Amino acid sequence: MEPSAQRIKIAVQKSGRLTDHSIDLLERCGLKVTKSKDQLFCFGENMPIDLLLVRDDDIPGLVSDDVCDLGIVGLNVVEEKRFASEADGRPARFKQVFELDFGHCRLSIAGPEETAYDDLESLNNTRIATSYVGLLNNFLSKNGIDAEAVYFSGAVEIAPRLGRAEYICDLVSTGSTLKANGLRELDVLLESEAVIIQTEKPLGADKQALVDKILQRLDGVLQVRESKYIMLHAPKSALAEIHELLPGTEAPTVLRLDGSDDKVAVHAVCRENVFWETLENLKAAGASSLLVLPVEKMLD
Ligand code: PRP
Ligand code: ZN
Repeated sequence: MEPSAQRIKIAVQKSGRLTDHSIDLLERCGLKVTKSKDQLFCFGENMPIDLLLVRDDDIPGLVSDDVCDLGIVGLNVVEEKRFASEADGRPARFKQVFELDFGHCRLSIAGPEETAYDDLESLNNTRIATSYVGLLNNFLSKNGIDAEAVYFSGAVEIAPRLGRAEYICDLVSTGSTLKANGLRELDVLLESEAVIIQTEKPLGADKQALVDKILQRLDGVLQVRESKYIMLHAPKSALAEIHELLPGTEAPTVLRLDGSDDKVAVHAVCRENVFWETLENLKAAGASSLLVLPVEKMLD
């Protein structure tokens, strides 16, 4: 077994929206892990990769300080750390290396439903409650707005009712938290999703090669999520039209059908989901015996 300095350490959210999906993605890349008794550590059985399960807000700091090589965390948390560190005069030392296309949400300004809000100018001389002071202050100064960020570590949505702020700046995903608190979304500061960050300190050739391999596998995992393998029979005369109708396909395979002169079999990887409408359009164009299969792995 490799000495621990040679193992890659990835910081992952301990319990929250990103946890299951983060671990699931790594497992789809071939990693097998066992969780420690205290649930704070996952040991990689078949690759020199271990997971540290921590609070999401701590992840950028752990990567910046080289305690972990990589971190999987929301862009909102990453950017907040970046602005907060800059404001402290100690720039964060991590870089974003991958967008994971899950955990989509946005950081927005919201206010009580009855608030008269025209545009950002309406925020002048108000108080805005948030856990994202760095991002908010950056946004306000960039737009020349003079408002006060009031720090709340959680339950930001109750600040207006407590009389502590006129507005809030918080994450919105489904919007149900805002609705439940009589608030409406007014402006978006940041569109967020889960990303992978890596320490800026060079990892050394072996570790970097393994990181590159994992990122390449992740690329494949994300691609196959949407991809389908489609098989159908088609009259030769309809091939051009059928190719046009196949979503996200470069060159389909065309095969001879035994005992048929005018019909061929068409097989293609579609890099987009194949919906019923597409199948119906293909059938209308002359296709028959349509079959759509999931794709499990892909390597370009
Ligand atoms: C966020 C945010 C809201 C909620 C919004 O908290 O602070 O409370 O999600 O989601 P909705 O629009 O689907 O209702 P989260 O659960 O991510 O916890 P954290 O920010 O404290 O880590
Ligand atoms: Zn959090």
